Amino acid sequence: MAARGNFSSRIGFIAAAAGSAVGLGNIWGFPYEAGAGGGAIFVLVYLFFCFALCFPVMLTELAIGRKSGRNAVGAFEALGHKKWNFIGKLGVLSGVLILSFYNVIAGWAFGYTFEMAAGNFEVTEHFRAYTTNIFAVGSYGLLFMIATAYIVSKGVSEGIEKAAKVLMPSLIIMMFSLIIYSLFLPNAMAGIKFFLLPDFSKLTSTVVFNAMGQAFFSLSLGMGTFITYGSYIKKNDNLIGSAALITLTDVGIAITAGLMIFPLIGFISGGSLSGVGRGPELIFVTLPHIFGEIGPTAGAIVGMVFFLLLCFAALTSTVSLLEVPVSYVVDEFKLSRKKAAWLMSGIVYLIGIPSLMGNGYSSYFSEFITYIGADQPTDFLSFIVNIANDSFLPLGGALMVFFAVHIWKKENMEAEIAVGFENYENSWVRKYLRFVMPVLLPGTLFIIFSMIVLSTFFGF
Ligand code: PFF
Repeated sequence: MAARGNFSSRIGFIAAAAGSAVGLGNIWGFPYEAGAGGGAIFVLVYLFFCFALCFPVMLTELAIGRKSGRNAVGAFEALGHKKWNFIGKLGVLSGVLILSFYNVIAGWAFGYTFEMAAGNFEVTEHFRAYTTNIFAVGSYGLLFMIATAYIVSKGVSEGIEKAAKVLMPSLIIMMFSLIIYSLFLPNAMAGIKFFLLPDFSKLTSTVVFNAMGQAFFSLSLGMGTFITYGSYIKKNDNLIGSAALITLTDVGIAITAGLMIFPLIGFISGGSLSGVGRGPELIFVTLPHIFGEIGPTAGAIVGMVFFLLLCFAALTSTVSLLEVPVSYVVDEFKLSRKKAAWLMSGIVYLIGIPSLMGNGYSSYFSEFITYIGADQPTDFLSFIVNIANDSFLPLGGALMVFFAVHIWKKENMEAEIAVGFENYENSWVRKYLRFVMPVLLPGTLFIIFSMIVLSTFFGF
């Protein structure tokens, strides 16, 4: 069998893994979810989930990946439990579905870079017209998918690692420049207060579910991304340290995105924070409008930098989304990496076409399904989000943790985590894992999964 790839250094792995985590979820999803979920209270619940629930799931995935040295499906067989590889298959399916719509949104962002550069802030008023023009946005999406496939086809260290090492630092520099800029606008502080001072009266079950979903998606958990990336790392790396660093980077970038965007919202709303779209359209409708207000030249520059940054963040995530199915077919069906990357990306692009058409172009896909108890139909893209992100990821996470503790056995998992972490026996991490992993964590994830399914699809 051809040699599998490897990350050439720990820092390269961290860059790629953090690159997977940091994406549209942080810069597009997090601010709008926080905006819709009452601001700081959402942030607080989200932080709790990231560290208390998601961090152990990430460790679990990394341990399974490194021990088995295989892809998300083959890993279960390599550990001696082939019957459980349905968990990996669910992960591959989630990856394909998520990438299919994620690429559509990345394509929109890519197109906006040119719109902003041309000073076309009008696009804000016509977002619907923009997404309806599927030949233009479909081409941007196609280019984005080609870039993703190209990086994945180059392999782990030459493609994924190299790209992440350039894209991630550029992203961070661009974000900090924009924060400094936005903090000096009038009424910036009103936005910051909304984002950072919690109002506990706004805590509802919807806030809790959304924060949970957001944490899972943002950390790329529940579909085997970290099983796959974990299979490419060295035996002596410290998994706990790596998982902590990846989580901190992801959370840090989400908070940074909030610090960048909420001052802009404070500015445009004159400090009242009302009347500003806070849904998914936040980034595509509200922000360009703000860039236009800043002035024609400065606005074009700021806008272009912003959307370029969004593309960079998205690209390291689409690469990881594609790597999960690619590594599966390379390992299990002995396809060459190059063929696998181009083939899978082609398939995923085709699966994404209904999502592309469901934003105004085709009324069939725009009003695809009406859930039980709902009074509005759901478009195809949101339908896939509801299935893959909201349902499959927490389910996959629950199953992986259950598998690791009860089937693979916690002693084996602990032995793997202890490799590269000298004082594991006496660490608080060990105590914490022993406390949450057997029942509390998989149980909570399973309950959340069930509640999400019942409330989303069945109107409970
Ligand atoms: N974490 C990415 C984001 O926040 O945009 C999305 C993602 C990437 C989810 C990879 C899942 C995944 F496996």
